[in-house]
Amino acid sequence: MSLPHAPLVRAHGAAIPAIGLGTFNAHGEICSEAVSFALRNGYRHIDTAPRYENEEAVGEGLRRSGVPRDQIFLTTKVWWDRIGADDLQRSAEESLQKLGVDQVDLLLIHWPNPAIPLADSIAALNDAKRRGYAKHIGVSNFTIALLNEAWRLTQEPLVCNQCEWHPALDQEKLRAVVRGYGMIFTAYSPVGRGVYGENAVVSAIAKKYGKTASQVVLRWNVQHEGSVAIPKSVTPERIRANLDIFDFTLSAEEMAALSGLGSREGRLVKPDFSPAWD
Ligand SMILES: NC(=O)c1ccc[n+]([C@@H]2O[C@H](COP(=O)([O-])OP(=O)(O)OC[C@H]3O[C@@H](n4cnc5c(N)ncnc54)[C@H](OP(=O)(O)O)[C@@H]3O)[C@@H](O)[C@H]2O)c1
Repeated sequence: MSLPHAPLVRAHGAAIPAIGLGTFNAHGEICSEAVSFALRNGYRHIDTAPRYENEEAVGEGLRRSGVPRDQIFLTTKVWWDRIGADDLQRSAEESLQKLGVDQVDLLLIHWPNPAIPLADSIAALNDAKRRGYAKHIGVSNFTIALLNEAWRLTQEPLVCNQCEWHPALDQEKLRAVVRGYGMIFTAYSPVGRGVYGENAVVSAIAKKYGKTASQVVLRWNVQHEGSVAIPKSVTPERIRANLDIFDFTLSAEEMAALSGLGSREGRLVKPDFSPAWD
């Protein structure tokens, strides 16, 4: 039986389901089946990227699910070496073709690139929206300084900043600025790639509610205003569990205890081309 859909989180005219399916490291038939299963079980939000080399498989999963396209919030991105003038639009065209859709709901700059002027990238992103390739545009892995610069340059609103976030990584400084711009903070690696089962604070809360550690961590995430999380799983029971987090509410003390686990050292995703994090 399908689970209830996740509530919508709104920003600058976009309405994004609070839980989406991440697809990094999911390929081929496994990816198509995961996407189709998620949609048939209540998901309405899917996250992909050309870098994941799975856009065809994601597109196949969308069609296989039987869920009408207009009921699905679909995000793709542009890899950091293609965010220059014209190249960004070409990347978006290729994504639409691979996904087999006329438009994505959200197109993101995947990572900043200091070798390409941000003015060019933001102009190209705006142009991709004007051409109808994406309903909404946004960024990913942007620092506070880059966000300030991006907002100075953009004509169209940037609806989200997609960044790593889970209890072990303190993102309060960046989140405050994202919220100040009225943007959504979309959390990637939101279950910390499955590590929270070992954590005593998380486990105690999980036991109280009869939930798993990952469910508690996701609940903590989406219980923050303006937050969306995109856990990745190709495992049917985990795909369902990750959406099944809207039937309990963490207390203020529990929220604070989970936030108290955070530090600047908790980052899992740190490629050598990362910006200087806040
Ligand atoms: N913008 C960016 O730069 C960026 C960077 C990283 C990720 N992302 C996006 O964010 C998504 C999520 O991030 P992520 O894939 O790095 O990490 P994640 O979602 O925190 O963790 C995924 C891993 O945890 C396992 N898992 C999922 N749900 C679980 C559960 N309920 N219990 C136990 N284990 C569970 C998955 O295993 P199974 O699949 O085997 O079930 C997988 O190995 C990505 O897939 C991608 O779409 C974006």
